[in-house]
Amino acid sequence: MTLRSFLGLVRDRWKLIVVVTLLAGAVSVGLTKRTAPVYSSSVTFVVSAPDDLSNVIQAYQANLLSQQKVEMYANLLTSPMLAKSVVEEARLPIPASVVQAGISAHVVPQTVLLRATVTSDSAARAHRIARTISVIFPRQIGELERPAKDATPPVSIRVVGQPSYSSVPVSPKPVRNLFAGLGLGLLAGLTLACAARSLDTSLKTIDQLGKSLGGKPVLGVIPYDREARSHPVPMGAQLGGVRMEAFRKLRVNFEFMQVDRSRKVFMFTSALPDDGKSTTVCNLAVALSPGGTRVIIVECDMRRPQAGRYLGLPGGAGLTDALLGRAELDDLIRTGAADAVDILTSGTLPPDPADLLGSRRMAELIEELRSRYDVVLLDMPPTLAFADATAVGRYCDGAIVVARYGKTRAEQVRQVTESLTSVGTPVLAGVFSMAPPRLVAGSGNYYAYQRRRFGLRIGRAPLLPRARAGAQALSGGAPAGKGPRS
Ligand SMILES: Nc1ncnc2c1ncn2[C@@H]1O[C@H](COP(=O)(O)OP(=O)(O)OP(=O)(O)O)[C@@H](O)[C@H]1O
Ligand SMILES: [Mg+2]
Repeated sequence: MTLRSFLGLVRDRWKLIVVVTLLAGAVSVGLTKRTAPVYSSSVTFVVSAPDDLSNVIQAYQANLLSQQKVEMYANLLTSPMLAKSVVEEARLPIPASVVQAGISAHVVPQTVLLRATVTSDSAARAHRIARTISVIFPRQIGELERPAKDATPPVSIRVVGQPSYSSVPVSPKPVRNLFAGLGLGLLAGLTLACAARSLDTSLKTIDQLGKSLGGKPVLGVIPYDREARSHPVPMGAQLGGVRMEAFRKLRVNFEFMQVDRSRKVFMFTSALPDDGKSTTVCNLAVALSPGGTRVIIVECDMRRPQAGRYLGLPGGAGLTDALLGRAELDDLIRTGAADAVDILTSGTLPPDPADLLGSRRMAELIEELRSRYDVVLLDMPPTLAFADATAVGRYCDGAIVVARYGKTRAEQVRQVTESLTSVGTPVLAGVFSMAPPRLVAGSGNYYAYQRRRFGLRIGRAPLLPRARAGAQALSGGAPAGKGPRS
């Protein structure tokens, strides 16, 4: 894993990582609180053999003997015999085995110093045991080492560090435990994040979407905007927002795609419901219309029609009524989004939309719209759920697939592409919807991608006359006005 992908992992899954880290920290605090405190007290002895400092050999031998003895005394310190003597001497109300378990011995390396450490659940008791050891241990060693009753022992042991007393427990250590818990939690969080990422096959980058579209360009990256639910099509002051800016970029790339005007009829579909098709169609139409492009939306979603509602024109007669010959097309086309966009809403909902959408009458209607408009945008239902898109696909010049960031999977986009291609509808491009701001900010890349695909030099290439007029209008220049509608 490179540093870049690691940082990407942290950025994508930071919530999971933070939650797991804090959880582990909380568990460690809980366990620390439940752990009984342990206190300790230490006493230090020095082991020495009488020597004659004027005789180097004797002094060396005495030192060697002391070092050998100190190892043995360390074992005696933790023996049951000493523990039993301590309990009797100090009149302790606990078994000798408990005292023995709480005594540890440690020889200070390269010295003849021996340290006994006593641990207990009470600071006073730990100190009392250590004090008793400091008294009876030298006595026991003296008796042990004395060769005859009144003889002088060859080695002696005496206290050099009196038993310490501390009311601060040696364990648990709350701060150390907290950091250990947080550290382990961080590790567990990162591991979980790695696992979640390897199981997550949803589309997260422009490259992934481009590849799943079989190398087709990604025309736009639309940011996630919580205002979208209440204002699906930005109006007035909202036109200056980041989302509308993304739709303007989409418009520019869309215009490059139909640079020679040979294609006019585009269907917008996706793999599953709620991927952002209708909002994309409506906003693209709104972005196209100031440039003088004659654009119409045909609400071909007869299952959950939303485009009309998004443009402020819910319900009413529409497409199905035109197809059934109940009304004239001119009477059914309405203008929404503050008179900016023409739309043919779905009309009366039929029991089997796919039949109606695949009919000859539908083909004729599309041809009629093709002759009247520069751009016809068909808002379709999801392709993997219904046959509607494949039924009407053959009357379109191409399809644009909307993929929702972090939800749509590469495999699903491939399936959509395959099923549309199999009925002769070329998939021309894709749009990423509801993406995080950083992907939108870094989406300059898709221009480069397009440059390669279309051989265009965006930035230096002159915009189409209509596009230029549109850009002026959108950037605050004089409105170009709409072309005549026939
Ligand atoms: N950029 C966005 N940021 C946040 N929410 C969005 C965005 N675009 C669309 N939405 C919300 O997502 C939901 C689905 O959007 P939309 O109706 O455009 O999807 P759809 O693909 O047309 O759905 P359906 O499959 O039902 O036709 C709506 O509630 C809409 O407000
Ligand atoms: Mg829709």
